[in-house]
Amino acid sequence: MKVYVTRTIPDIGLSLLKQEFTVDIFPHDRLPTKPEIIAGVKDADGLLCLLTDPIDKDVITSAPHLRMIATYAVGYDNIDIATATTRGILVSNTPGVLTDATAELAWALLISAARRIPEGDTYCRQGKFTGWAPLLMVGQEITGKTLGIIGAGRIGAATALKSKGFHMNVLYTDTQPNPTLERELHAKRVPLEELLKQADFISIHVALFPSTHHLIGRQQLRMMKPTAVLANTSRGPVIDEPALATALKEHWIFSAGLDVYEHEPKIHKDLLTLPNVVFAPHLGSATMDTRSNMARMAAENMIAGLHGQLPPNCVNPEAYRKKP
Ligand code: GLV
Ligand code: GLV
Repeated sequence: MKVYVTRTIPDIGLSLLKQEFTVDIFPHDRLPTKPEIIAGVKDADGLLCLLTDPIDKDVITSAPHLRMIATYAVGYDNIDIATATTRGILVSNTPGVLTDATAELAWALLISAARRIPEGDTYCRQGKFTGWAPLLMVGQEITGKTLGIIGAGRIGAATALKSKGFHMNVLYTDTQPNPTLERELHAKRVPLEELLKQADFISIHVALFPSTHHLIGRQQLRMMKPTAVLANTSRGPVIDEPALATALKEHWIFSAGLDVYEHEPKIHKDLLTLPNVVFAPHLGSATMDTRSNMARMAAENMIAGLHGQLPPNCVNPEAYRKKP
């Protein structure tokens, strides 16, 4: 059986795959184009892809032997799950192993944006630091403030739990209650509007669906405190980026930390000129530990799926029943 891999991933995953299958890896150190993915997957039984690959109907239907898609990510909004399921193709992701890494990055962004770290870094590098000053780059204090978590799934909950040392009042919004957060942090589930009005620090952790597209737009940014700090480590289109640029420019909110972008890898040109926003280039899961664990997990899912078993992290188990 042949597995097509759209980009080199850590060796632990590739060597597991090579023990079982013929492995064909996209040979360049860049993102493959859609025609390149189609050409690569044409005669493959398995596809190991990245979150940046558009695995849409065209790609899926161009691969008559395809039975398994293992994405090297927790998010799978780039994959047409409905088409895969109809064709009996199993899809897996890599949940759990990147939860802490992503929650850590959410805090890195919240703290950097609150304490103006990148602004200070630039200032020092430019030789502008001429001495301690009472009013130099004063930011927002975190301890004892209110944290608002939008989406209290695995990563949102881990981000909330990491606030323990800051003794925060925790609010969250989710379609379901999270008993762990309520027990451990006395967190309160509130409607989005109430969270936006009350929270000092807001961190977004929802998956991208039609229902979460532009969940944070002009109207929602208007509800937030002028001292609020917003972080997004989920998916870019959850925020209306031009509206965020206006909010930051006109100081409707204090600052923002972004790891993901509406038209990734493009960043809205107005945002790039503002001092009160911190950028990361989609690094949520980018630790050595996590990236190795993701590679192993994606390979194990692939091996299970192509050997006729239900992969441990299958996102469309309905497809399993359809399998020939
Ligand atoms: C990263 O964004 C992921 O979905 O794994
Ligand atoms: C700050 O450096 C202080 O000593 O207050």
